[in-house]
Amino acid sequence: MAGHEGEPIRIAVRELARFLGADIEDPRFLADPHQCVTPAMRARPVHRLPGGAVAVLGHTACSEVLRGAHFGHGAGELYEMTLLGLPARSFLQLDAPGHTRLRGQVARHFSVRRVQGLAQSVAAHVRALVADCRQGPGDFVTDVAEPLAMSVISDVLGVADEDRPAFQRDARLVVQGLDQPARVTDERATARARFRFVRYFHQQVKARRAAPTDDLVSTLLHRPDGTVAEVREVVTTCSLLLSAGYDTTVSLLSHAVAELAGDRSGQGWDLARDIRTADAVVEEVLRLQSPVQITPRAVVRDTDLQGVALSRGTIVLPVLAFANRDPAVYEDPDVFRPQRHLRTHTSDRAQPRHLALGAGAHFCLGAALARLTARHALSVLAVDPPMSRDEPRTYQDNVTVRGLRTLPVTWPNPSTAASRSRARRSTPADAAPSCPALALADADLAHADLADADQRNP
Ligand code: HEM
Repeated sequence: MAGHEGEPIRIAVRELARFLGADIEDPRFLADPHQCVTPAMRARPVHRLPGGAVAVLGHTACSEVLRGAHFGHGAGELYEMTLLGLPARSFLQLDAPGHTRLRGQVARHFSVRRVQGLAQSVAAHVRALVADCRQGPGDFVTDVAEPLAMSVISDVLGVADEDRPAFQRDARLVVQGLDQPARVTDERATARARFRFVRYFHQQVKARRAAPTDDLVSTLLHRPDGTVAEVREVVTTCSLLLSAGYDTTVSLLSHAVAELAGDRSGQGWDLARDIRTADAVVEEVLRLQSPVQITPRAVVRDTDLQGVALSRGTIVLPVLAFANRDPAVYEDPDVFRPQRHLRTHTSDRAQPRHLALGAGAHFCLGAALARLTARHALSVLAVDPPMSRDEPRTYQDNVTVRGLRTLPVTWPNPSTAASRSRARRSTPADAAPSCPALALADADLAHADLADADQRNP
C-alpha cells in the first residue's frame, strides 16, 4: 500500500512524525503512534505542517478528503517509477477517468458473491496452517498470518497449485521491496524475484491471449471495449493487488489475535466464535488498529477544509488511524470494544463507519475479501485460541501500513501428527460440515448487505 510513494509524500510523513514529537524510526512510535496525539492536537482536526503539507486527524475531515472532488492524486509528481520500470501508478494512484476504467475492469472479481466462492478455500488454508503450528510455541505472524494472506492473494490472482511455492517466495520479496524498502537485505535477490514475478505474469498473459478464461488475468487483458491491454498494465494491477492486500491482511489478522489474547473481559473470543458477532470483532480491530494509517492525497482544486484554506498541489495526509480513534465520534476510543459494532437499531444510526478501509471512489476493493479472511481465520482459531507469550512484540518499520512483525504465541492443545496431516489433506469438498468456518459461508452471504452497502455508498 505504501509502495511507489515519491519523495514529497515521504518528506510529509516525516514532518507529520516530527509534529507528533516522534522519530519515524523509533520502535516506540511504530508500536504505538496514538500515544503521541495530545488533546491540544485533537482539538483541531486539520494542521498545517512546517513544510506546507497538511495533516488531517479528525474523522469528519478525513472523510471529507476521501470523498471530496477537490482531493485526488494529481498530475504525478507524488509517485515514483518502480518494478522494472513499469509504471508505478496503479489505479489506486489515479483519478477519474483512468481510475474508473481500471477499477471497473476488475471490480467483479471482488464482489461479495465472487469472494464468497473463495470461502471454502480460505477455511482450508486456515485449518492447515493452524494444525501445523499447534505444536508448541511459535510466532503467529510468520506461522499463520503471512502464509494465509499470501495463499488468499494467490487464490485471487489464480496462481496454479504447482506454481505456488516459487510464486509466493518471489511475491514476498517483491512486496517487501515495494512496501518496506528498508527491510530489503539482499538487493540482488529482490531484483531477481521482481524479474521472475513480472515474467510469471508475462507467461500468464501469453497463455490467456491464446485461450481466455474467466480469471483475473484474462479480465485485465481483454478490456470491455474489445481492445487488449498491454502486459505492463496487467502486471501493474496484479502488483497493486499484492501490495494492497498482503501487509494489510497480515496486520488485521495479527492485531486481531493480539487484541483477543489481551482481552480481559473474556468475551472477545466468544464473540469471534459466534457467526452472528464475529463481524463486530473484525470491525473493531480495523477501527482500533487500522492497518492503513495514512492515505495521501493532493489538492487538485483550491478549497477549504474545516476553515483551513488549501491551494492546488498541497499534499494532504488524512491519518485514518487517528480518525478512527476520534473522541468526538467514538466513546472510549482507545478501548477494544467489539460490541460497539453490533447492529442494533440505535447503534446502526449512531455509529459512523470507521475509515480503515477508506471511503469514496478509492474505497478498498478487497474489503469483502479481507473481512471474509479475518472472519474465517478467527472462527477456526476461536475453537482453541492461541495465547500470547510474555515476550516483546515487534512492529514493522512502516508508518503508512502499521503491522506486527512478530507476535509470540503458544497453543493450548498441541495437535498430533495425525490431526496435522488430516488438516493438510482436507480439501474444500471433504471439509467437515461442523467446522465453524464453513458454517460461516452462509453468514458471509447474510453479510452481503453490509459489504454491498459499502460498495454502493462507501
Ligand atoms: C485488512 C485488510 C485491508 C485494509 C485495512 C485495506 C485498506 C485499504 C484502504 C484504506 C484503501 C484506500 C486507499 C486510499 O484511499 O488511498 C484501500 C484500497 C484498495 N485496496 Fe485494500 N485493504 C485491505 C485489504 C485488501 C485486499 C485483501 C485487497 C485485494 C487483494 C485490497 C485491494 C485494494 C485495492 C485494489 C485498493 C485500491 C482501490 C481504488 O483505488 O479504487 N485491499 N484498501
